[in-house]
Amino acid sequence: MGRIRFDTAVTLNGFLADEHHSLSWLFAVPGSDDAERDIPTPDAAVDVMGSHTYEWLLRELDMLEHPEKWTEFFGSTPVYVFTSRMLPVPAGVEIRFVDGSVATALPGIREAAGDGDIWVMGGGELVGQFLDAGALDEIAVTIAPVTLEGGAPLLPRRLESDRMRLVEARPVGQFVRAVYEVRPAAS
Ligand SMILES: NC(=O)c1ccc[n+]([C@@H]2O[C@H](COP(=O)([O-])OP(=O)(O)OC[C@H]3O[C@@H](n4cnc5c(N)ncnc54)[C@H](OP(=O)(O)O)[C@@H]3O)[C@@H](O)[C@H]2O)c1
Repeated sequence: MGRIRFDTAVTLNGFLADEHHSLSWLFAVPGSDDAERDIPTPDAAVDVMGSHTYEWLLRELDMLEHPEKWTEFFGSTPVYVFTSRMLPVPAGVEIRFVDGSVATALPGIREAAGDGDIWVMGGGELVGQFLDAGALDEIAVTIAPVTLEGGAPLLPRRLESDRMRLVEARPVGQFVRAVYEVRPAAS
């Protein structure tokens, strides 16, 4: 069984995006392109995201006008999007929409991934639901030298040091890359 990994960029004070779902602060960091090259995109068999993350991708990469960009970004990897709404889909692309609990959707997501990893892209509340379901194995953050007044929090859950073990830490240009293994809750 593959691992379930949360891998994301984050501000120094723990936000994934500002109040307007913007990541302009991230791309404004000098060397952010180089950092992107130095930090490999998770090699996952399935990608999972919430609706705001999906809408951000559609908007930023103009994917409704240019559906080929979806394939450039995701290749043939199955993508699950959690939402209670009907959302637009780039022409010719298959998105697996989910409306319901992570625990209920998880067996299908795991089956699609086979022995491969599952990359939960965000946001934090959705990742929190994976944690609640006992289905989060790794948190990898690329910390940007930015603070924001508010926005989308990294992970709005209480998770203490008894459940995390540092497995990687390194500077990447102006960023810090840190990877923690998440241990199961004591039963
Ligand atoms: N810094 C980074 O690298 C990075 C990475 C990931 C995300 N982000 C950004 O961070 C922000 C994340 O914001 P967020 O936490 O508000 O967004 P999110 O997790 O992307 O989306 C939250 C939405 O997902 C849907 N959802 C979540 N759980 C659900 C469930 N169990 N069933 C059905 N629908 C469910 C709901 O959408 P509906 O309202 O449609 O029902 C909910 O409003 C976004 O702006 C995103 O672009 C940044």
